[in-house]
Amino acid sequence: MDKIEIIGGTPLQGTVQISGAKNAALPLLAASILVQGAVDYTNIPDLMDIKSIKLLLQDLGATIESNGSQCRINASPINKIEAEYDLVRKMRASILVLGPLVARFGRARVSLPGGCAIGARPVDLHLKGLEALGAKISIEHGYIEATTDDKLIGNEFYFDIPTVTGTENLMMAATLAKGTTILRNCAREPEITALADALNKMGADVIGAGTAVIRINGIGTDSLNPSLKSASIHVIPDRIEAGTFMVAAAATNGDVLIQGAEPEHIGGIINKLRQSGASVEITQDGIRVKGAEKIKSTDIKTLPYPGFPTDMQAQFMVLMSIAEGNSVVHETIFENRFIHVNELQRMGADISISGNYAMVRGVKNLSGAQVMASDLRASASLVIAGLVAKGSTTINRVYHIDRGYESIEKKFLTLGANIRRC
Ligand code: UD1
Repeated sequence: MDKIEIIGGTPLQGTVQISGAKNAALPLLAASILVQGAVDYTNIPDLMDIKSIKLLLQDLGATIESNGSQCRINASPINKIEAEYDLVRKMRASILVLGPLVARFGRARVSLPGGCAIGARPVDLHLKGLEALGAKISIEHGYIEATTDDKLIGNEFYFDIPTVTGTENLMMAATLAKGTTILRNCAREPEITALADALNKMGADVIGAGTAVIRINGIGTDSLNPSLKSASIHVIPDRIEAGTFMVAAAATNGDVLIQGAEPEHIGGIINKLRQSGASVEITQDGIRVKGAEKIKSTDIKTLPYPGFPTDMQAQFMVLMSIAEGNSVVHETIFENRFIHVNELQRMGADISISGNYAMVRGVKNLSGAQVMASDLRASASLVIAGLVAKGSTTINRVYHIDRGYESIEKKFLTLGANIRRC
Protein backbone atom coordinates (compact mmCIF):
# COMPACT_ATOMS: atom_id res chain seq x y z
CA MET A 1 0.00 0.00 0.00
CA ASP A 2 1.39 3.44 -0.97
CA LYS A 3 2.75 5.80 1.67
CA ILE A 4 3.79 9.42 1.46
CA GLU A 5 7.04 10.48 3.16
CA ILE A 6 7.72 14.12 3.91
CA ILE A 7 10.71 15.88 5.47
CA GLY A 8 9.13 19.06 6.78
CA GLY A 9 10.36 22.57 7.30
CA THR A 10 10.74 23.94 3.76
CA PRO A 11 8.66 27.06 2.97
CA LEU A 12 6.67 26.34 -0.23
CA GLN A 13 7.63 28.57 -3.16
CA GLY A 14 6.42 28.72 -6.76
CA THR A 15 3.33 28.19 -8.85
CA VAL A 16 0.72 25.45 -8.71
CA GLN A 17 -2.04 24.70 -11.22
CA ILE A 18 -5.46 23.73 -9.84
CA SER A 19 -7.28 20.76 -11.42
CA GLY A 20 -10.97 20.33 -12.24
CA ALA A 21 -13.27 19.94 -9.23
CA LYS A 22 -14.05 16.39 -8.13
CA ASN A 23 -17.35 17.43 -6.59
CA ALA A 24 -18.40 19.22 -9.78
CA ALA A 25 -17.25 16.45 -12.13
CA LEU A 26 -19.15 13.66 -10.31
CA PRO A 27 -22.69 15.07 -10.84
CA LEU A 28 -21.77 16.33 -14.32
CA LEU A 29 -20.76 12.80 -15.34
CA ALA A 30 -23.91 11.35 -13.75
CA ALA A 31 -26.00 13.85 -15.76
CA SER A 32 -24.91 12.09 -18.96
CA ILE A 33 -27.57 9.46 -18.09
CA LEU A 34 -30.24 12.04 -18.97
CA VAL A 35 -28.85 12.53 -22.49
CA GLN A 36 -29.59 10.67 -25.73
CA GLY A 37 -26.23 11.00 -27.49
CA ALA A 38 -22.71 11.87 -26.44
CA VAL A 39 -21.57 14.42 -23.88
CA ASP A 40 -18.02 15.78 -24.16
CA TYR A 41 -16.21 16.79 -20.99
CA THR A 42 -12.98 18.74 -20.49
CA ASN A 43 -10.94 19.44 -17.34
CA ILE A 44 -11.89 16.13 -15.70
CA PRO A 45 -9.44 15.48 -12.83
CA ASP A 46 -7.48 12.22 -12.71
CA LEU A 47 -8.82 10.81 -9.42
CA MET A 48 -10.01 7.51 -7.95
CA ASP A 49 -13.54 8.87 -7.41
CA ILE A 50 -13.75 9.79 -11.11
CA LYS A 51 -12.60 6.28 -12.06
CA SER A 52 -15.30 4.91 -9.72
CA ILE A 53 -18.16 6.84 -11.34
CA LYS A 54 -16.91 6.00 -14.84
CA LEU A 55 -16.84 2.30 -13.87
CA LEU A 56 -20.37 2.60 -12.55
CA LEU A 57 -21.63 4.29 -15.74
CA GLN A 58 -19.90 1.62 -17.85
CA ASP A 59 -21.43 -1.11 -15.73
CA LEU A 60 -24.85 0.40 -16.48
CA GLY A 61 -24.05 0.16 -20.22
CA ALA A 62 -22.67 3.61 -21.12
CA THR A 63 -19.70 3.86 -23.48
CA ILE A 64 -16.81 6.05 -22.34
CA GLU A 65 -13.79 7.26 -24.29
CA SER A 66 -11.19 8.95 -22.09
CA ASN A 67 -8.15 10.92 -23.21
CA GLY A 68 -6.25 12.65 -20.39
CA SER A 69 -8.53 15.25 -18.83
CA GLN A 70 -11.12 14.85 -21.60
CA CYS A 71 -13.80 12.25 -21.95
CA ARG A 72 -16.86 11.47 -24.04
CA ILE A 73 -19.76 9.59 -22.51
CA ASN A 74 -22.59 8.11 -24.48
CA ALA A 75 -25.28 6.89 -22.11
CA SER A 76 -27.81 6.04 -24.86
CA PRO A 77 -26.99 2.30 -24.68
CA ILE A 78 -27.65 2.08 -20.92
CA ASN A 79 -29.72 -1.05 -20.36
CA LYS A 80 -29.24 -1.69 -16.66
CA ILE A 81 -30.86 0.32 -13.85
CA GLU A 82 -28.99 -1.18 -10.91
CA ALA A 83 -25.96 0.42 -9.21
CA GLU A 84 -24.36 -2.50 -7.41
CA TYR A 85 -23.07 -2.61 -3.85
CA ASP A 86 -19.45 -3.20 -4.86
CA LEU A 87 -19.40 0.01 -6.91
CA VAL A 88 -21.43 2.19 -4.51
CA ARG A 89 -19.51 1.17 -1.37
CA LYS A 90 -16.31 2.61 -2.88
CA MET A 91 -17.88 6.03 -3.25
CA ARG A 92 -20.99 7.45 -1.57
CA ALA A 93 -21.47 9.98 -4.38
CA SER A 94 -22.61 7.03 -6.55
CA ILE A 95 -26.06 7.94 -5.17
CA LEU A 96 -25.97 10.67 -7.87
CA VAL A 97 -27.11 8.13 -10.48
CA LEU A 98 -30.39 7.53 -8.62
CA GLY A 99 -32.23 10.68 -9.77
CA PRO A 100 -31.14 10.48 -13.43
CA LEU A 101 -31.92 6.73 -13.67
CA VAL A 102 -35.44 6.99 -12.25
CA ALA A 103 -36.14 10.07 -14.38
CA ARG A 104 -35.10 8.32 -17.60
CA PHE A 105 -36.24 4.73 -17.02
CA GLY A 106 -38.99 5.14 -14.39
CA ARG A 107 -37.05 2.61 -12.32
CA ALA A 108 -33.77 2.48 -10.43
CA ARG A 109 -32.10 0.18 -7.94
CA VAL A 110 -29.13 1.71 -6.14
CA SER A 111 -27.24 0.16 -3.25
CA LEU A 112 -27.86 2.19 -0.09
CA PRO A 113 -24.55 3.91 0.78
CA GLY A 114 -23.32 2.86 4.22
CA GLY A 115 -21.87 5.07 6.94
CA CYS A 116 -18.44 6.54 6.39
CA ALA A 117 -15.54 7.76 8.49
CA ILE A 118 -16.98 11.25 8.91
CA GLY A 119 -20.43 10.24 10.11
CA ALA A 120 -23.75 8.58 9.35
CA ARG A 121 -24.48 10.69 6.22
CA PRO A 122 -28.09 9.68 5.52
CA VAL A 123 -29.76 10.04 2.09
CA ASP A 124 -33.30 10.42 3.45
CA LEU A 125 -33.75 13.85 1.81
CA HIS A 126 -32.80 12.48 -1.63
CA LEU A 127 -35.49 9.84 -1.17
CA LYS A 128 -38.18 12.17 0.24
CA GLY A 129 -37.53 14.53 -2.66
CA LEU A 130 -37.97 11.77 -5.24
CA GLU A 131 -41.16 10.68 -3.45
CA ALA A 132 -42.45 14.26 -3.77
CA LEU A 133 -41.89 13.88 -7.54
CA GLY A 134 -44.08 10.78 -7.52
CA ALA A 135 -41.53 7.98 -7.17
CA LYS A 136 -42.38 5.02 -4.94
CA ILE A 137 -39.40 4.25 -2.74
CA SER A 138 -38.60 1.13 -0.80
CA ILE A 139 -35.47 -0.29 0.78
CA GLU A 140 -35.03 -3.99 0.01
CA HIS A 141 -31.96 -6.11 0.77
CA GLY A 142 -29.74 -3.04 1.18
CA TYR A 143 -30.91 -1.47 -2.07
CA ILE A 144 -32.98 1.65 -2.69
CA GLU A 145 -35.73 0.78 -5.15
CA ALA A 146 -37.39 3.72 -6.87
CA THR A 147 -40.21 3.31 -9.38
CA THR A 148 -42.77 5.49 -11.13
CA ASP A 149 -45.89 4.44 -13.04
CA ASP A 150 -44.99 6.76 -15.89
CA LYS A 151 -42.87 9.90 -15.59
CA LEU A 152 -41.86 11.85 -12.53
CA ILE A 153 -44.29 14.72 -11.87
CA GLY A 154 -43.06 18.22 -10.98
CA ASN A 155 -43.82 19.31 -7.41
CA GLU A 156 -42.58 21.56 -4.60
CA PHE A 157 -40.03 20.17 -2.16
CA TYR A 158 -38.36 21.72 0.89
CA PHE A 159 -34.99 20.34 2.04
CA ASP A 160 -34.91 20.22 5.88
CA ILE A 161 -31.12 20.63 5.58
CA PRO A 162 -29.37 22.04 2.52
CA THR A 163 -27.75 18.97 0.99
CA VAL A 164 -25.31 19.23 -1.91
CA THR A 165 -25.75 15.86 -3.62
CA GLY A 166 -29.44 15.84 -2.59
CA THR A 167 -30.03 19.13 -4.42
CA GLU A 168 -28.10 17.78 -7.43
CA ASN A 169 -30.02 14.50 -7.52
CA LEU A 170 -33.41 16.25 -7.40
CA MET A 171 -32.40 18.92 -9.90
CA MET A 172 -31.32 16.25 -12.41
CA ALA A 173 -34.43 14.12 -11.84
CA ALA A 174 -36.76 17.09 -12.28
CA THR A 175 -35.34 18.03 -15.71
CA LEU A 176 -37.20 15.13 -17.36
CA ALA A 177 -40.34 15.37 -15.18
CA LYS A 178 -43.78 16.43 -16.31
CA GLY A 179 -44.36 20.01 -15.13
CA THR A 180 -42.52 22.38 -12.85
CA THR A 181 -40.53 21.52 -9.74
CA ILE A 182 -39.63 24.09 -7.11
CA LEU A 183 -36.89 23.09 -4.68
CA ARG A 184 -36.53 25.19 -1.53
CA ASN A 185 -33.70 25.50 1.01
CA CYS A 186 -31.32 24.17 -1.63
CA ALA A 187 -27.57 23.97 -1.16
CA ARG A 188 -25.86 26.88 -2.95
CA GLU A 189 -22.40 25.47 -3.66
CA PRO A 190 -20.68 26.50 -6.93
CA GLU A 191 -20.83 22.84 -8.03
CA ILE A 192 -24.63 23.12 -8.06
CA THR A 193 -24.54 26.21 -10.27
CA ALA A 194 -22.07 24.38 -12.55
CA LEU A 195 -24.48 21.44 -12.81
CA ALA A 196 -27.45 23.72 -13.59
CA ASP A 197 -25.43 25.50 -16.30
CA ALA A 198 -24.53 22.14 -17.83
CA LEU A 199 -28.13 20.86 -17.69
CA ASN A 200 -29.30 24.05 -19.41
CA LYS A 201 -26.67 23.53 -22.14
CA MET A 202 -28.16 20.06 -22.55
CA GLY A 203 -31.59 21.59 -23.15
CA ALA A 204 -33.05 21.61 -19.62
CA ASP A 205 -34.72 24.63 -18.05
CA VAL A 206 -33.22 25.23 -14.59
CA ILE A 207 -33.49 28.66 -12.96
CA GLY A 208 -32.11 29.93 -9.64
CA ALA A 209 -29.18 27.56 -8.97
CA GLY A 210 -26.80 29.23 -6.52
CA THR A 211 -29.79 30.55 -4.52
CA ALA A 212 -31.93 28.69 -1.99
CA VAL A 213 -34.83 28.28 -4.46
CA ILE A 214 -34.37 26.39 -7.72
CA ARG A 215 -37.13 26.09 -10.31
CA ILE A 216 -36.95 23.36 -12.92
CA ASN A 217 -39.41 23.34 -15.80
CA GLY A 218 -39.41 19.64 -16.71
CA ILE A 219 -39.39 18.72 -20.39
CA GLY A 220 -41.58 15.64 -19.75
CA THR A 221 -44.65 17.74 -20.59
CA ASP A 222 -43.56 18.26 -24.20
CA SER A 223 -42.19 14.87 -25.04
CA LEU A 224 -43.27 11.23 -24.74
CA ASN A 225 -39.70 9.99 -24.23
CA PRO A 226 -37.99 13.03 -22.77
CA SER A 227 -34.22 13.24 -22.82
CA LEU A 228 -31.60 15.94 -22.82
CA LYS A 229 -29.27 16.53 -25.76
CA SER A 230 -25.53 16.36 -26.46
CA ALA A 231 -23.35 19.17 -25.15
CA SER A 232 -19.75 20.09 -24.33
CA ILE A 233 -19.07 20.64 -20.64
CA HIS A 234 -15.99 22.16 -18.99
CA VAL A 235 -15.49 21.29 -15.30
CA ILE A 236 -14.96 24.23 -12.92
CA PRO A 237 -11.74 24.42 -10.83
CA ASP A 238 -11.53 22.60 -7.52
CA ARG A 239 -11.99 25.16 -4.73
CA ILE A 240 -11.02 22.67 -2.04
CA GLU A 241 -7.77 21.73 -3.78
CA ALA A 242 -7.06 25.47 -4.16
CA GLY A 243 -7.83 26.07 -0.47
CA THR A 244 -5.57 23.18 0.55
CA PHE A 245 -2.58 24.66 -1.32
CA MET A 246 -3.37 28.12 0.07
CA VAL A 247 -3.35 26.86 3.66
CA ALA A 248 -0.17 24.85 2.99
CA ALA A 249 1.51 28.02 1.67
CA ALA A 250 0.46 29.96 4.78
CA ALA A 251 1.40 27.18 7.22
CA THR A 252 4.93 26.76 5.80
CA ASN A 253 5.49 30.55 5.68
CA GLY A 254 5.78 30.16 1.91
CA ASP A 255 4.96 32.26 -1.15
CA VAL A 256 2.78 30.44 -3.67
CA LEU A 257 0.84 31.52 -6.75
CA ILE A 258 -2.29 29.41 -7.17
CA GLN A 259 -3.35 29.35 -10.81
CA GLY A 260 -6.66 28.38 -12.33
CA ALA A 261 -8.76 28.77 -9.14
CA GLU A 262 -11.90 30.91 -9.00
CA PRO A 263 -11.51 33.51 -6.19
CA GLU A 264 -15.31 34.00 -6.10
CA HIS A 265 -15.68 30.40 -4.90
CA ILE A 266 -13.24 30.64 -1.99
CA GLY A 267 -14.23 33.82 -0.20
CA GLY A 268 -14.70 32.02 3.13
CA ILE A 269 -11.20 30.54 2.98
CA ILE A 270 -9.55 33.79 1.85
CA ASN A 271 -11.24 35.66 4.71
CA LYS A 272 -9.97 33.24 7.36
CA LEU A 273 -6.44 33.10 5.90
CA ARG A 274 -6.23 36.89 6.03
CA GLN A 275 -7.49 36.87 9.64
CA SER A 276 -4.68 34.43 10.45
CA GLY A 277 -2.15 36.99 9.18
CA ALA A 278 -1.39 35.53 5.73
CA SER A 279 -1.33 37.85 2.74
CA VAL A 280 -3.78 36.80 0.00
CA GLU A 281 -3.56 38.81 -3.19
CA ILE A 282 -5.87 38.25 -6.14
CA THR A 283 -3.97 39.07 -9.32
CA GLN A 284 -4.40 38.59 -13.08
CA ASP A 285 -2.06 35.57 -12.85
CA GLY A 286 -3.78 33.85 -9.95
CA ILE A 287 -4.11 33.96 -6.18
CA ARG A 288 -0.84 34.69 -4.39
CA VAL A 289 -0.57 33.53 -0.78
CA LYS A 290 2.32 34.60 1.41
CA GLY A 291 2.65 33.24 4.91
CA ALA A 292 3.23 35.38 7.99
CA GLU A 293 6.12 34.98 10.42
CA LYS A 294 3.58 34.87 13.27
CA ILE A 295 0.30 33.07 12.62
CA LYS A 296 -2.66 34.56 14.53
CA SER A 297 -5.21 32.32 16.22
CA THR A 298 -8.52 32.31 14.31
CA ASP A 299 -11.87 30.69 15.14
CA ILE A 300 -13.75 28.88 12.39
CA LYS A 301 -17.26 27.52 12.09
CA THR A 302 -18.10 25.27 9.15
CA LEU A 303 -21.29 26.19 7.31
CA PRO A 304 -23.04 25.46 4.03
CA TYR A 305 -21.73 27.59 1.14
CA PRO A 306 -20.91 30.49 1.11
CA GLY A 307 -19.74 29.81 4.68
CA PHE A 308 -16.43 28.19 5.57
CA PRO A 309 -16.42 24.70 3.96
CA THR A 310 -16.34 21.58 6.13
CA ASP A 311 -14.00 20.13 3.49
CA MET A 312 -11.35 22.70 4.58
CA GLN A 313 -11.77 22.30 8.35
CA ALA A 314 -9.03 19.68 8.88
CA GLN A 315 -6.46 21.57 6.79
CA PHE A 316 -7.17 24.89 8.55
CA MET A 317 -6.86 23.21 11.92
CA VAL A 318 -3.20 22.42 11.12
CA LEU A 319 -2.56 26.13 10.54
CA MET A 320 -4.25 26.94 13.86
CA SER A 321 -2.20 24.27 15.65
CA ILE A 322 0.97 26.36 15.04
CA ALA A 323 -0.71 29.78 15.60
CA GLU A 324 -0.03 32.04 18.57
CA GLY A 325 -2.86 31.52 21.07
CA ASN A 326 -6.07 29.50 21.12
CA SER A 327 -8.58 28.89 18.33
CA VAL A 328 -12.01 27.28 18.41
CA VAL A 329 -13.05 25.09 15.50
CA HIS A 330 -16.80 24.44 15.35
CA GLU A 331 -17.89 21.69 12.95
CA THR A 332 -21.60 22.02 12.18
CA ILE A 333 -22.01 19.86 9.04
CA PHE A 334 -20.77 16.39 10.00
CA GLU A 335 -20.91 14.91 13.48
CA ASN A 336 -17.68 12.92 13.38
CA ARG A 337 -15.23 15.01 11.46
CA PHE A 338 -12.38 15.31 13.95
CA ILE A 339 -10.66 11.96 13.26
CA HIS A 340 -7.53 13.82 12.13
CA VAL A 341 -7.14 15.26 15.66
CA ASN A 342 -5.66 12.05 17.11
CA GLU A 343 -3.06 11.94 14.37
CA LEU A 344 -2.23 15.66 14.74
CA GLN A 345 -1.79 15.10 18.49
CA ARG A 346 0.77 12.40 17.65
CA MET A 347 2.66 15.13 15.81
CA GLY A 348 2.65 17.39 18.88
CA ALA A 349 -0.50 19.46 18.28
CA ASP A 350 -2.41 20.50 21.42
CA ILE A 351 -6.09 19.98 20.60
CA SER A 352 -8.99 18.89 22.77
CA ILE A 353 -12.46 17.99 21.55
CA SER A 354 -15.81 18.58 23.17
CA GLY A 355 -18.74 17.45 21.03
CA ASN A 356 -18.48 19.23 17.72
CA TYR A 357 -16.02 21.84 19.05
CA ALA A 358 -12.24 21.54 18.98
CA MET A 359 -10.07 23.80 21.13
CA VAL A 360 -6.71 24.26 19.42
CA ARG A 361 -3.90 25.66 21.57
CA GLY A 362 -1.11 26.81 19.30
CA VAL A 363 2.31 25.17 19.75
CA LYS A 364 5.70 26.35 18.44
CA ASN A 365 6.43 23.28 16.30
CA LEU A 366 4.93 20.05 15.11
CA SER A 367 7.22 17.02 14.98
CA GLY A 368 7.27 14.39 12.25
CA ALA A 369 5.68 11.02 13.03
CA GLN A 370 4.09 7.93 11.48
CA VAL A 371 0.42 8.75 10.92
CA MET A 372 -2.64 7.16 9.34
CA ALA A 373 -4.94 8.78 6.76
CA SER A 374 -8.60 8.14 7.63
CA ASP A 375 -10.62 10.11 5.07
CA LEU A 376 -9.95 12.37 2.14
CA ARG A 377 -9.66 15.79 3.77
CA ALA A 378 -8.10 14.42 6.97
CA SER A 379 -5.34 13.02 4.74
CA ALA A 380 -4.76 16.45 3.20
CA SER A 381 -4.40 17.91 6.68
CA LEU A 382 -1.72 15.32 7.52
CA VAL A 383 0.22 16.26 4.39
CA ILE A 384 0.19 19.93 5.46
CA ALA A 385 1.20 18.91 9.00
CA GLY A 386 4.08 16.88 7.52
CA LEU A 387 5.22 19.87 5.43
CA VAL A 388 5.27 22.04 8.58
CA ALA A 389 6.74 19.52 11.03
CA LYS A 390 10.35 19.15 12.07
CA GLY A 391 11.75 15.84 10.80
CA SER A 392 10.20 13.02 8.86
CA THR A 393 6.48 12.18 8.58
CA THR A 394 5.14 9.02 6.98
CA ILE A 395 1.47 9.00 6.02
CA ASN A 396 -0.04 5.54 5.67
CA ARG A 397 -3.19 4.59 3.72
CA VAL A 398 -2.81 7.38 1.17
CA TYR A 399 -5.44 5.80 -1.10
CA HIS A 400 -7.83 8.16 0.70
CA ILE A 401 -5.98 11.15 -0.71
CA ASP A 402 -5.95 9.72 -4.25
CA ARG A 403 -9.74 9.80 -4.18
CA GLY A 404 -9.73 13.58 -4.34
CA TYR A 405 -6.32 15.17 -5.02
CA GLU A 406 -4.64 14.85 -8.42
CA SER A 407 -0.86 14.18 -8.19
CA ILE A 408 -0.68 15.81 -4.78
CA GLU A 409 2.93 14.86 -4.07
CA LYS A 410 4.06 15.98 -7.56
CA LYS A 411 2.38 19.36 -7.10
CA PHE A 412 4.00 19.87 -3.68
CA LEU A 413 7.35 18.70 -5.12
CA THR A 414 7.26 21.49 -7.73
CA LEU A 415 6.73 23.92 -4.83
CA GLY A 416 10.02 22.76 -3.31
CA ALA A 417 8.66 20.34 -0.72
CA ASN A 418 10.73 17.32 0.29
CA ILE A 419 7.99 14.77 -0.39
CA ARG A 420 7.86 11.36 -2.05
CA ARG A 421 5.49 8.47 -2.53
CA CYS A 422 6.89 5.08 -1.63
C1 UD1 B 1 -21.06 16.95 -0.39
C2 UD1 B 1 -19.64 16.86 -0.86
C3 UD1 B 1 -18.70 16.70 0.34
C4 UD1 B 1 -18.93 17.80 1.37
C5 UD1 B 1 -20.41 17.92 1.72
C6 UD1 B 1 -20.71 19.13 2.59
C7 UD1 B 1 -19.89 15.85 -3.05
C8 UD1 B 1 -19.70 14.66 -3.91
N1 UD1 B 1 -19.54 15.73 -1.76
O1 UD1 B 1 -21.39 15.72 0.26
O2 UD1 B 1 -17.35 16.75 -0.14
O3 UD1 B 1 -18.21 17.51 2.54
O4 UD1 B 1 -21.21 18.05 0.52
O5 UD1 B 1 -20.28 20.29 1.98
O6 UD1 B 1 -20.31 16.89 -3.51
N2 UD1 B 1 -28.05 15.11 5.15
C9 UD1 B 1 -29.20 14.54 5.67
N3 UD1 B 1 -30.02 13.86 4.82
C10 UD1 B 1 -29.74 13.72 3.49
C11 UD1 B 1 -28.59 14.32 2.98
C12 UD1 B 1 -27.75 15.02 3.84
O7 UD1 B 1 -29.47 14.63 6.86
O8 UD1 B 1 -30.53 13.09 2.78
C13 UD1 B 1 -27.15 15.89 6.06
C14 UD1 B 1 -25.75 15.26 6.17
O9 UD1 B 1 -25.71 14.25 7.14
C15 UD1 B 1 -24.93 16.47 6.55
C16 UD1 B 1 -25.61 17.61 5.79
O10 UD1 B 1 -26.91 17.14 5.45
O11 UD1 B 1 -25.05 16.73 7.92
C17 UD1 B 1 -24.92 18.05 4.53
O12 UD1 B 1 -24.55 16.91 3.77
P1 UD1 B 1 -24.57 16.91 2.19
O13 UD1 B 1 -24.52 18.32 1.66
O14 UD1 B 1 -25.65 16.04 1.70
O15 UD1 B 1 -23.20 16.19 1.84
P2 UD1 B 1 -22.91 15.35 0.54
O16 UD1 B 1 -23.76 15.85 -0.57
O17 UD1 B 1 -22.93 13.89 0.87
